[in-house]
Amino acid sequence: MRALPAQGIAANEVLRELAALREHDLPTHGGRLFAYVYDPALDGLDELAAAAYAMSSHVNGLDPTAFPSLLAMENDLVAAAAHTLGGPPSTVGSVTSGGTESLILAVKAARDARPDIAEPRLVMPVTAHAALAKAGAYLRVALDTVPVDPSTFRVDPAAMAAAIGPSTVLVACSAPSYAHGLIDPIADIAGAALAAGVRCHVDACFGGWTLPYLRRLGEPVPPFDLSVPGVTSISVDLHKYAYTPKGVSILLHRDEALRAPQYFGYADWPGYTMVNPVVSSTRSGGPIAAAWATLRHIGDDGYLSLATRTRDATRAIAAAVASVEDLTVVPVESTVVAFMSTTVDLFVLADELAARGWHTQPQFRHGNIPPSVHLTVTAAVAPRVQDFATDLTAAVKAARALGPVELPPGIFELLGSVEDLAGALGLGAGGKLPDRMALINTLLNTAPPEVRERLLISFLSLLQRPAW
Ligand SMILES: Cc1ncc(COP(=O)(O)O)c(C=O)c1O
Repeated sequence: MRALPAQGIAANEVLRELAALREHDLPTHGGRLFAYVYDPALDGLDELAAAAYAMSSHVNGLDPTAFPSLLAMENDLVAAAAHTLGGPPSTVGSVTSGGTESLILAVKAARDARPDIAEPRLVMPVTAHAALAKAGAYLRVALDTVPVDPSTFRVDPAAMAAAIGPSTVLVACSAPSYAHGLIDPIADIAGAALAAGVRCHVDACFGGWTLPYLRRLGEPVPPFDLSVPGVTSISVDLHKYAYTPKGVSILLHRDEALRAPQYFGYADWPGYTMVNPVVSSTRSGGPIAAAWATLRHIGDDGYLSLATRTRDATRAIAAAVASVEDLTVVPVESTVVAFMSTTVDLFVLADELAARGWHTQPQFRHGNIPPSVHLTVTAAVAPRVQDFATDLTAAVKAARALGPVELPPGIFELLGSVEDLAGALGLGAGGKLPDRMALINTLLNTAPPEVRERLLISFLSLLQRPAW
């Protein structure tokens, strides 16, 4: 067994093996991967974060009184986020493992604050992040998703207000949304929630660390944070645009009373009383220490200049895309460039870009929202813009020449057996995806959401099997 050899293996050999495994991953650095990773391209930052991580990786967040270093760093991170996101002096918060956990906890706090509501509900635009749906599914909070205008991807605040009912425990909105990088009309939505006496959470997991800096640079960022009346909580992921290693997000509440139902406590057993603010109980201090070191090292001035580079790169990438005939760019409001086309097959284009070393994120059709390509732009993209523009032109030309993907006849009849389908689509054993994904993406784009979910869950469960 590879992870448990009969005899232990020397440390340097193990690291060589790990490096060999990592060779098959997409590049986390260098500005060529437009999703999943956030690269500030700052010399020495990885080394600092790794050293800080190592110093605290065995520290356990289970009991902050045993490890006051962790408590101090968590309070520092929460204070920095509160300061950045317009929090009043009453603001409190928690450090979580990521955006999904922050959202689950925001929903849990809202649900548990209203034990009088038997069947709690959550109102959100359909463009809100899937993690809120996951929170609803885990916590049995039903979703009321409000459609957006299919040409602007914007939700009508009046429709959000109208969706609030007697069982609504939370209204959620995004600043910005992941898919298109657009900021919801937070002030109007939060105002409606306030009038109805319902909590309002702003999911700023993606952009919460950039929007305040973009505003300081003169960008027209509308009010979106705790300074907005009616916003009761907000989440921001440090492992995104604060450029920390993975595993750190912050959930802020306007005051202690709002946070109180987030806690879990249990004393009714013979062991220690378990008191947790977050989902995990034992938690490594590693990510928290790495985040603390990263913030202290980059500093406010560093984030401002990273935001400058990111803004300029975003503008330049958007201009490069807009200059290509037949590609339509969604108006840029943050650091996402999303584009659509009615004439070029976006999935073939994504393959052509990948063949040229640019890894983008195809997004599927949803109702009358068209498919698109998503680019998360980070500071590391800045020196690559011209290369990207050149390759985009060539990739579009190649995609036009190839034409759209046609699904093989009868492919939908195979949907009953994912194994057959995986074979038909050329999905190899051992987790190897084909080099070209256009066929699979076209199939997923055509499939209704529940079929897409079923296919991808089955596919993932095929991959996630141990080799005996
Ligand atoms: C707006 C938004 N919310 C929540 C999340 C979920 O964050 P995580 O992947 O850290 O759980 C993301 C991730 O991209 C996001 O963009």
